[in-house]
Order: sequence, then structure tokens, then C-alpha cells
Amino acid sequence: MSYLWCMLPEKLRKKLAKRIADDQLRSLPAQTPGIDFYSNDYLGFARSERIRRAAERYAKRRAGSNLNGATGSRLISGHSPLAAQVEKRLTSHHGAEAGLLFNSGYDANLGLFSAVPQRGDTILYDALIHASIRDGIRLSLARSAKFKHDDYRDLESKLKRATGHVYIAVESLYSMDGDSPDLNRLVDLTERYRASLIVDEAHATGVLGKKGMGLVQDVERSDAVFARIHTFGKAIGAHGAIVLGTQGLVDFLLNFAHPFIYSTALPPHSLGTILAAYDELVTGLERAELVRNIDCFRKGVQQFELEAHSKNNRTPIQIFEAQYPNSCRVVAEALAKSGFLIKRIQPPTAARERLRICLHSFNSEAEIEALLQTISQACRS
Ligand SMILES: Cc1ncc(COP(=O)(O)O)c(C=O)c1O
Repeated sequence: MSYLWCMLPEKLRKKLAKRIADDQLRSLPAQTPGIDFYSNDYLGFARSERIRRAAERYAKRRAGSNLNGATGSRLISGHSPLAAQVEKRLTSHHGAEAGLLFNSGYDANLGLFSAVPQRGDTILYDALIHASIRDGIRLSLARSAKFKHDDYRDLESKLKRATGHVYIAVESLYSMDGDSPDLNRLVDLTERYRASLIVDEAHATGVLGKKGMGLVQDVERSDAVFARIHTFGKAIGAHGAIVLGTQGLVDFLLNFAHPFIYSTALPPHSLGTILAAYDELVTGLERAELVRNIDCFRKGVQQFELEAHSKNNRTPIQIFEAQYPNSCRVVAEALAKSGFLIKRIQPPTAARERLRICLHSFNSEAEIEALLQTISQACRS
């Protein structure tokens, strides 16, 4: 144990020591060069020179947007024509009535879930829901219960027993599993039990659904979805998030969501980046390359006979699961030695250890094949 920890209160030292004993201690990774199979930059937008230049033009064009920072929260000095333009553009792009920007997806979920469900209400959430939603739920005065991942019978049995107004929380693409729920079925259940469905589209934004608009827009009765969260730190390659819903919901959040009210707004450059990225999204070029790479990966999984380790995801998030103790560590070490950047995910971030492989538009077929070959060799060694 580091001697620096001696200064910590005993309870904190014990918790860190347990992390070490469980081989789960988090630390910042060394920045090593390598082939990116770990970032959420699915479309390569975070590294796009074209988007960077267009973002600057957007930020300069708007009066008042020659500032480096927003100077305050939106309710005081931080509101700007550029922020209003982003909200208007995204609301129309995603076919919603209204939208409100937040500084991150974490902030959006914290604000939404802590403010909207009231005392006496119930929040039912998928067991694999993101930590930002769990944290929002912890701040809420409502009751909460989780249902088994993608298990609609379990959800229905909990809906039958729930009291007050019921909110159901799901993701449209689960970040640590790479799978999606049946949103049509969830809308049916929501309507039958007069509940409100909230869908976090963080990892689907820009990637899944018609024109990468997310999966809610592919749902027959998408207007039955109470709220959606689109985040910009993943395929959009920027930072921030928007909550989409009715004008009433936006008015409510503006009045009661603390991460919106008590935090400095996004700076003009971030807002410009979001607009420039949405312009690029409309071309569909990078998404087509990403889809080609997902197909290439799935074919490779069959070719190298890795089906037993890999879920059949048609998404940029591919999961390699351990078949025996230490197999993830062995494969991760072999991949690192060969220059692949991949994240080994351990509890508590995911229930079971796994390798999370993120595919991108900019990965080449040769890189994908070499990756799978390395995994296959390491599995058989
Ligand atoms: C499903 C989901 N929601 C929200 C977030 C938080 O988004 P942000 O990174 O913009 O804070 C994440 C980030 O990992 C996520 O995976």
C-alpha cells in the first residue's frame, strides 16, 4: 500500500486496500501509442480537422460567441444565441418538441432523475443502467427498483406493484454489453401502465437508427417516450448532452434540475463543435464505414471461431467474455504487446470481467483481422 495513503482516515484506507486485494484498483492509464479499439470516438469526429475548422467558424459567426468561456450559468450570463441554435437544431434533427443542453451526459442524467420523479413515485431501471442514472436516482426522493436486464416479464411484475407515477429507465445501447432493448415492447408496457419511459441514447447517438439519430426515432410511437438523453462525448466527438422531450419537461428542468441551474454553461467552442459534428453526421459517410467495419468484425469472429466468447452485437461495442479465470487478463496482455489499445473492464464497472472492443469508422480491415488473430492465438495458448 502506498505510504501516501497513511494520511487517509482508516475507513478510506480499508476501501482502497480492498480494491487492491480484489485486483480492482483504478488508476490513470499510461498514454501509449497504439491502434484505437477503446475510445468512444466511433466516427472519428473527435480527431476531425474539418469539424475543428467548422466549429471555429460557427463559434465566431454568432454575436457574443467570441468568448473563451460561457461566463456563467445559462440562467445568468451564460445563455447565448449559439446555445439556442444548438437546442433548436438538435430538437428538429431528432424530431422532438423541445430540448435542454447540459454540460455532460452525467449532468443530464443527474439533473433529470434527481428532479423529475417526486416523493411517492417509483423509478424502475434496467439492472445494467449507467452509473449517472443510478446517481440521479440516489438523489431523488422517489422509490426505485431494478428489473433484470432486458427482462420485460420482470419489469411487468414490478410495474404491477409500483406506486405513484412510474418512470422506466433504459439505455438504447448498453455501454458495457453492446446490446439494445426492444423499445417497441417497452413503449407498449409504458402505455399499458401509464408510465413514463426515459431512454438514454448516449452510445446510439450518431451511430444507430435512421441516419444515426438514435433508436427512439425508429419506434412506431416514439412520441410516447417521455424523455431521451443524447450525449456528445461519444460519436459526436465533443462534450455535453441534451435532454429531449416536451416543452413542459424542458420548463421543469430549467427550474428544478440543479446541474443545469448551478453550473457554468458549455463554452462557445463546444457548442460550435456540436453543430459542426451534426453537419458531418448528415452526410452518413463515416457511419457507412463504421457499419462496414462491424460486418468485417462479425465475419472475422466466425472465421477465427470466437463465437463462444463474443456476443452477436451489430453495434460498435463488441464484448469478449472470459471463459475461464484470468483469460481476459491473458488476452489483454497479448493485445497490448501487439500494439492494440483495448480496455479490460472489471467489476464494479461491469458485473463480470470482459474486454470491451470499440469499433470505429477509421479502423482498417487489416487492423480488425490482426486484432482477432491475436485474440484467437492468446485464447488457444
Ligand atoms: C449510457 C451513458 N449515459 C451517460 C453517460 C455520461 O455521458 P458523459 O460522458 O457525456 O458524461 C455515459 C458515459 O459513459 C453513458 O455510457
